[in-house]
Parts: sequence; C-alpha cells; structure tokens
Amino acid sequence: MSRRILVAVAWPYASGPRHLGHLAGAYLPADIFARYHRLAGNQVLMVSGSDVHGTPITVRADQEGVEPQVIVDRYHNEFLRDWETLGISWDLYTSTGTPNHYAVTQDVFLRLLENGYLAKKTSSQFYDPEAQRFLPDRYVQGTCPNCGYGEARGDQCDNCGKTLDPVDLIDPVSRLSGARPVERETEHYFLLLSKLEDRLRGWLETKTTWRRHVRNWALGMVNEGLPDRAITRDLEWGVPLPVDDLGPGKRIYVWFDAVIGYLSASKEWAQRQGDPESWRLWWEDPEAESYYFVGKDNIPFHTVIWPAMLMGYGGLNLPTDVPANQYVTFGSQKASASRGIGRSIGWYAERLQPDALRYALGSVLPEHQDTDLSDEEIIRRVNEELVATWGNLVNRVLTISARNFDGRVPDPGPLTAEDEAIVAVGSKVLEDTAAHIEKVELRSGLRAAMDAASTVNAYLNATEPWKLIKTDAGRAATVLWSAIQAIAGIRVALHPYIPHSSARVGEMLGIGAEITSWTAPRVEGGTPLGEVTPLFTKLDESVLDD
Ligand code: MF3
Ligand code: ZN
Repeated sequence: MSRRILVAVAWPYASGPRHLGHLAGAYLPADIFARYHRLAGNQVLMVSGSDVHGTPITVRADQEGVEPQVIVDRYHNEFLRDWETLGISWDLYTSTGTPNHYAVTQDVFLRLLENGYLAKKTSSQFYDPEAQRFLPDRYVQGTCPNCGYGEARGDQCDNCGKTLDPVDLIDPVSRLSGARPVERETEHYFLLLSKLEDRLRGWLETKTTWRRHVRNWALGMVNEGLPDRAITRDLEWGVPLPVDDLGPGKRIYVWFDAVIGYLSASKEWAQRQGDPESWRLWWEDPEAESYYFVGKDNIPFHTVIWPAMLMGYGGLNLPTDVPANQYVTFGSQKASASRGIGRSIGWYAERLQPDALRYALGSVLPEHQDTDLSDEEIIRRVNEELVATWGNLVNRVLTISARNFDGRVPDPGPLTAEDEAIVAVGSKVLEDTAAHIEKVELRSGLRAAMDAASTVNAYLNATEPWKLIKTDAGRAATVLWSAIQAIAGIRVALHPYIPHSSARVGEMLGIGAEITSWTAPRVEGGTPLGEVTPLFTKLDESVLDD
C-alpha cells in the first residue's frame, strides 16, 4: 500500500541570501515531511529549484551593474551549499533557467491558449518617463490600496499579503529613477481566471482539512472575484513567449513560469532517472498526493493561480494540500530578503550544528500563527531541550552501559511492568509522531518525540541505574536495556527532524547509521556499542553574538 507523494517546495528567488524565515517557512518542513514518508515506505518525489526570473533578480543586477545571470549563479550556488549543510534531502533541486523548464513553460502557455484560458488584452502599465521604459512589478513601490502599508511592492503587499498590480498602488514611485511613473497602453497575454472562478470555489470548498488560515485566504480571494491576470511583462529577462504576436521586449511573467517549475522539475527528474515518463505517476494518477510547502505570501499563487492553471491545462493533479506557514518574525519584524532583515541561513549554519538549527526551528514552526524568534530563543531551545533532554538521555544511558557492560548493550533479566512500559515507548512514539506528521502538524510531531525522551528520563531518575550498578548489576542491566529499546525508537521518530545526530545515535547503539523503516528496532543484549561521544555541544550564550 505504498503511496506516491509529491513534495513540492517553494522556489527561492536567486536574488539574495535566504533567511531563517524561509527555512522554517518551507524547506525544513518539506524535508521533515519527505523524510518521514520515505521511512514510512511511500514513494516520495521532492522537487524545487532556484527561481531565476523576475524583478527581484533584475533589480539586484541593476543595483550591482552586472548581468542578471551573475546574480543567479552566485545565489544558486549559495543555496546548494545551504541544502548540503543542513541535509535538505531533495530528489531534485534545479532552477527555472534550464532548457527543459523553458520548454515545459511554453507548452503550458500554448495549451492554455488552445483551451481558451489565455487572451491578449491591452492594459495600462506604468512607464518611467525618465528611464524611458515600462516598470514591471517590483520596479514600482507605493502605498497598498488594501491596508495602507507605505512600502508595498508592485506585485504584492508585504504587510497584508494581497497580490497587486503596480497600477493599483497609491503614490507610486519608480525604483529606477525615483520619478512618478505614468500609465501607458501596452499589450499582454492574460490568464482568464474569471472563467475558472466557479470551479476554483467548488474545489476549495471541499478542502475542509486544510489549515484554516490557508483555506480562508484562498476562498476570500475567490469570493472577491478574480480579475484576469497579465502573465507577460515588458522585460528582457524571463522565459520567451512561444508566440510572436506581442512583438519584441516581452517575456513570460515570473510567477507564471515559477509555479510550472514543479512540473518541469518532475520531468527533469524522470529524465535523469532514465525513465522519462515516470513523472506521470505523481501527476496523472488520481491516487497520487501532492503537498506544497510554501510561506504565507505564496498562498495566492499556490491555492488559486496554480490550481487554475492546472485546471485549464487538464489531466494533471490539483494540490492535495498547501500547508503554508505563517511568518517567522524577529523582534516582531518580519524577516525579509529584499529588505535585508534577518541574517542568512549560511550565517547560522556556520555557527551551529545543522541539527541544532533544525531542532530550534522545528520546535517553533509558524504553522498556525506568526512566531517570534530570537537568537536567545534558539540557544535556549538547543541547551534546555535538545541537549538537556535528548542529548543527555542518550549520553547517560550509553556511557553507563559502555563502562559497566564491556562496551556492549546489557543483557536484560525479567522485565517489570515499568520496564515493559518503557520498551513500549519506543513503538508508541512512532505512532504518535507519525499521526502528527501525516496531518502536517510537524511541530507537534517533534513535541511527541521529545515527550517520549522525557518519559525515559523520568524512568531513569526513578530507577537510578548508576546506583544499581553497585548494588544490583542484573537489575541495572534490565533498566539500561529497556531504556535502550526506547531510545532506538525515539531516534527513528527524531530522524525527520534531526537526521545527522539520529545517524550518530545508530552508530553509537551499534546498529548502524542508516534507518530503513518507520519501526522501532529491537537492540539485542550483547550488541557491541560504537564509540560514545556527546551528540550535541552545549551552546555558549555568545555563540550568535557577532
Ligand atoms: N520565488 C518565489 C518567492 O520566493 C516563490 C516561488 S514559488 C513558485 O516568493 F512555486 F512559484 F516557484
Ligand atoms: Zn497591504
């Protein structure tokens, strides 16, 4: 009964470093979910890549006086390093700059055109009279017409999340020249969302198990009425149109091509596997599931616009769920790559063990509301929870066992009811954590695993095997063996969250680093233990100071 699960993860703009908000918002939760499902025996396809188009890239290139490709290469390589360091387990991490992605995007464009969901229309767009060019999206800033936020960008308001058209902004300013832009007529292709409104509403209404904030946002957007949206721009950077009737100087809009990345990456993955049609198993089989891991500002594109594109295309699966996260804030300010708030993932990865960072973020994932994070909070979570509860449990049980039982797992005598209960923790924790992860309640899943570790710690404090060693070595062996069984199960439950240290625990237990299934292994008495060393370093309070 193996399920097929597409884990589709938001494509980061290769326009600057990504920060902890991105990591907690999309990449880490996706990785936790994918790692769990692989162990649960399901066929996971986890894809994403760098989003290399759009005005975030060209604005940065203009500022630095370099070609957009220079910016793209720099940050794409930085992201690859981040994934490697943190162990984000992509099946494919590619980019939207590939010939395959261009071809797939153009195919989707043509199919939507053929099916009557695209049309050419003349509209007014902002034009910078000084720079003498059209100003797409983030080249214009102004006041949000929806919430009054003063620094809204032409494509979307950062404050209320509403998707915008630059011409909607109040008091617009050109970021190229500082001039007040003027409206000029220009011709573009539009996605005829109005034609799909009823189908979208009907589909969203069935999604009663989605996170409430996600479903409400999506339904709210559809109920307000969906204006047709321009999917081309006056830009030289982007996927070229597969038709030439707009004339030169136009490209496909970044948001139209970026969401198609999920499909193009699945096709690229299949080609690389040497089985080019295998992507269909995740996209065409109605039993296959798809989960889109994105941050709050991406909700409109994944719950309304991408589903509309898929409906218009026909024959491809709509999202099963879009478990979008809310924001991580720092001192109640939203981290923002384009505004330079919040330090980069790489900065933290240089200073913390990958699993320490994964743990701290995993325990505060903003699944239902914005969550404030600070460096002190990261250090506190690591020291008071990860090190004190899990690190300490593993360390004390394995050190006493290694020292007193000849470097081996002790052989148990008869088990009491308490011992049996502790052995059972090893399999119970896997059921509990799985139930949370299945619902994409990842924070609760981590909580369940840590609670299990606390239960074993309480058992040790009550039985005191370090004292029993001197008075009743047989009883000490039984207690330690029971605790080891629980540890072996908890270690599997923690693997999706902290895979590096989970592998280490396997080596120390003498059962190998690799985990192959979501089950608690039995660790036999007499198994030679590996070298026992502390799993985590306790953090100095100044470790994140510079
Ligand atoms: N690049 C966009 C962002 O960072 C996200 C794109 S998600 C995609 O907000 F699916 F559209 F690619
Ligand atoms: Zn707003």
